[in-house]
Amino acid sequence: MDIRWLGHAAFELKHDGVTVLIDPFITGNPAATVDVESLEADAILLTHGHQDHFGDTVEIAKRTGATVQAITEIAGEIGEEGVEVIDTNMGGTASYPWGSVRLTPAWHTSTTPKGTVTPPAGLVVELGGKVVYHTGDTALFSDLALPGRRKEVDVALVCIGGHYTMDREDAVVAAGLIGADVVIPQHYDTFPPIATDVQAFKSDVEAAGHARVEVLEVNGTYSA
Ligand code: NI
Ligand code: MN
Repeated sequence: MDIRWLGHAAFELKHDGVTVLIDPFITGNPAATVDVESLEADAILLTHGHQDHFGDTVEIAKRTGATVQAITEIAGEIGEEGVEVIDTNMGGTASYPWGSVRLTPAWHTSTTPKGTVTPPAGLVVELGGKVVYHTGDTALFSDLALPGRRKEVDVALVCIGGHYTMDREDAVVAAGLIGADVVIPQHYDTFPPIATDVQAFKSDVEAAGHARVEVLEVNGTYSA
């Protein structure tokens, strides 16, 4: 599977002709350089409703015909736009021809641009025989360990920027809880309040023996 970081919390997962986008915030994202019109998608997955995650979801879904999976009330709002949605709630798994996606808890807040309020989520994606866990925006909490108890996490996409989420030091503890082989940091350096030292995060996680950290450039790809 190819995991491409599009900047901030946005990722593209590709395997065997299937493309999955997570939190595709491109327009207005100071870190993003990809042309939103160039993005393809079979599915778009949302962790929560904040604009820096919701982003271009509706426009990409309308153009590509992608299914959008999000927590129930957010899916309901997006469905009103004429987009095909999957309205899982916390703990729920959606099955796809290519794999599955489960919503997990996250500690944060969530309001969509239109004002729909929900709890936020993390995402456990199974694609191409690999398990990818996107933490969403979250504080450090012990239940980050739970997805890996069910099935080992291959790659964790972990927020590290602080201010709106856990910072890089709490994210080191999170990496230990998640137990993934590889951690890819996200949700940092996009805006001044979430500037952080990503190389220090990498050193700390690797010194603790928690995981290997792959620091991606924006549009950089890690092949799992
Ligand atoms: Ni948020
Ligand atoms: Mn955010």
